[in-house]
Amino acid sequence: MSIAIFASGNGSNFEAVVQYSRDQHWTTPVSLLVVDREDAGAIDRAKRLGVPCYVVSPKSFPTKVKYEEALLELLKKYGVEWIVLAGYLRIVGSTLLEPFEGRMVNIHPSLLPSFPGLHAIEQAWGYGVRVTGVTVHFVDAGLDSGPIIVQRAVEVDSMDTIEMLTDKIHAVEHQVYPETIWKVITGKVLYTPRIVVTS
Ligand code: GRF
Repeated sequence: MSIAIFASGNGSNFEAVVQYSRDQHWTTPVSLLVVDREDAGAIDRAKRLGVPCYVVSPKSFPTKVKYEEALLELLKKYGVEWIVLAGYLRIVGSTLLEPFEGRMVNIHPSLLPSFPGLHAIEQAWGYGVRVTGVTVHFVDAGLDSGPIIVQRAVEVDSMDTIEMLTDKIHAVEHQVYPETIWKVITGKVLYTPRIVVTS
């Protein structure tokens, strides 16, 4: 039983989770990193941390289904039971989502449902909110729309620049994400799909 982390970019959350899992001697280890881009900064972090890293580009597959089937094969090889998204810039399709429903989590740098999608910190900054934050949630088929597990507020101080706010948000992420992942894996948080009434 192990955890796979998916990333597309810098990988600071990936590193924070791996470090914490080692410090806390998790019995469910992070067994691999999957990235969808060759230039993801997370790759160097994986090398440094000694975590196997796979670059699987959707461009190498004719369809999203085929791409996700290849990911499933890889995850099977590593006995992966949990998927942790950490800056993975794709909507997960049903091929991957259905077998991992309730076992896939994501972190988002805003207080959802405000500012979903890309550039959430910039969106919040541009709106002029005085409080923003971090959300950890289960993944569903939508954009940052799955059931919320935990949220932490971060105040925007009058002297803050967007860079300072970004640093504060990342610092909170690096603390809250590893702790929350462990609670989910150890059954202290139970998954319930959120019912959405559409008519
Ligand atoms: C984080 O802000 C996370 O909330 C969002 O993407 C960013 C990834 O940062 N989903 P990093 O690659 O972990 O440094």
